[in-house]
Parts: sequence; C-alpha cells; structure tokens
Amino acid sequence: MADDVIQAVVAHPGLVLGLPAGRTPVPFYRELVRAHREHRLNLARVTTFNLDEFIGVPASDPRSYHAFMDRQLFGHVNCTPRKINFLDGMADDTDRECRRYERAIARAGGIDIMILGLGTNGHIGFNEPGGFLIAATHRTRLTPATRRANAALFDFRMADVPREALSIGIATILGARRIVLLATGAAKARCVERTLTGPVTPALPASFLQLHQNTEVWLDRAAARRLLRRAPLSRRAGLP
Ligand code: GLP
Repeated sequence: MADDVIQAVVAHPGLVLGLPAGRTPVPFYRELVRAHREHRLNLARVTTFNLDEFIGVPASDPRSYHAFMDRQLFGHVNCTPRKINFLDGMADDTDRECRRYERAIARAGGIDIMILGLGTNGHIGFNEPGGFLIAATHRTRLTPATRRANAALFDFRMADVPREALSIGIATILGARRIVLLATGAAKARCVERTLTGPVTPALPASFLQLHQNTEVWLDRAAARRLLRRAPLSRRAGLP
C-alpha cells in the first residue's frame, strides 16, 4: 500500500489523503517514513485529514491520536504543517468543530485516497455500530468494545479511556474518490467476512463500503481466512 501511495504522490504531488490511527497502519507509516528518508517520497504538497480524535484529550497529550500520528508519521516526514488536519478533541463547540472539518475537506477538493482501519466491531473511523449512522463529521459515544480496543493508549486504565470522540461521517468516507480498507490479523477475520459478504447495515458500519464503486480491501492471510474458505466472492455477491 505504501508503494501505491508513493506512486500516487509522484503522479499527483498535491494528493489529499484520509488517514487512520490504530495498530494496523503502523507498518504502512513506517514504509512511508523509509521512502521519505530514501528521497523517494516528498509530502510537502500533500494534504492529510485524520479520521478521528478523542474528546477531552489535547493534541499535546501523548495519548491523543494527533500525538500518535506525530510519532508514527508526521514527526519523520516533510508534510507541511498547515496541510495536516485533525479534529480538535478540545474544541468548546464540537458541532462547530465538525462543520469546520467538513468545510476544510471540501475546500481541499475532497479526499483522493481514504485509508481506513477496521474496528473488530465493524467501525470505521469512530462510526460505531448501532441503529443508525450519521452522514457528516460528528460527535459520538464510544462502545465498550472500542474503549477496550483503545485501552493500550491509556495504560489499560479503563477509567481514563475517553467515552466520546469526534469522527468523520460515513458520507464523508464514501465521498472519497478511492477507499482502501486495511485489515490484518485473525481477530478481524469474522468482521472482514461480514463487511464484504453480509448485508449493508448500520450494525456493521464498514459494510457501507459495499456501496462505493472504488473500494479496495487489503488483507493479510489471517484476516482473509474466512473468505478463503468460501466460494469465490464474485459469485456470492452476484458480481460479474
Ligand atoms: C480505532 C480507530 C480507528 C481504527 C480502528 C482499528 O478505534 N478509531 O480509526 O482504524 O479502531 O484499530 P486497529 O488498527 O488498532 O485494530
């Protein structure tokens, strides 16, 4: 995936990327950093939008997604600071902050490549499973499963794990020109299978990616193992 993004940036130096936090993209970020060090990747004109941020955790706090991204990527490459975009989890008026983010994405011309991780409960960004989804960037309550999945950042002190977050919305994700879902490890296998072969439902937000014409799913063998056991996907999904 890193090679793919590197080529895309060479072809379009002003590319707009949507970026996730989480463990899955860490090797991807490591490859981008390596390519930059080897003078194969110039990110000066690239614009980035991170997908989500905890409410009540300032950017300067090492437990924020902002700080995570600085450690994994931005601290080691030549992105232009004003072209790096985050939701501010400390904003007084979160509705306004969400509207600001939507406007910033629109002003940047929309997202060219939206890279996503996959929550084990099927969330993308912090669009959590439930009875409905919210189209635009919004404030959201985190499910217990998601809080547990993020506990490592907070030294496994559950009381410290935020209960709310800001997240780009499902329509914001589906508005990207190209979507790339990354999933690795056996813990994601069931969710990957449901995402690709199950119904489109807010009970599994990632299933909405089935509605996008230009979505790719990049898996390792462990995450793909339930798919590999099945009949060819194309036949099941009724695709040509
Ligand atoms: C987190 C984040 C997502 C991330 C996902 C998967 O809670 N909100 O942006 O993609 O869950 O995380 P991981 O890659 O660590 O499995």
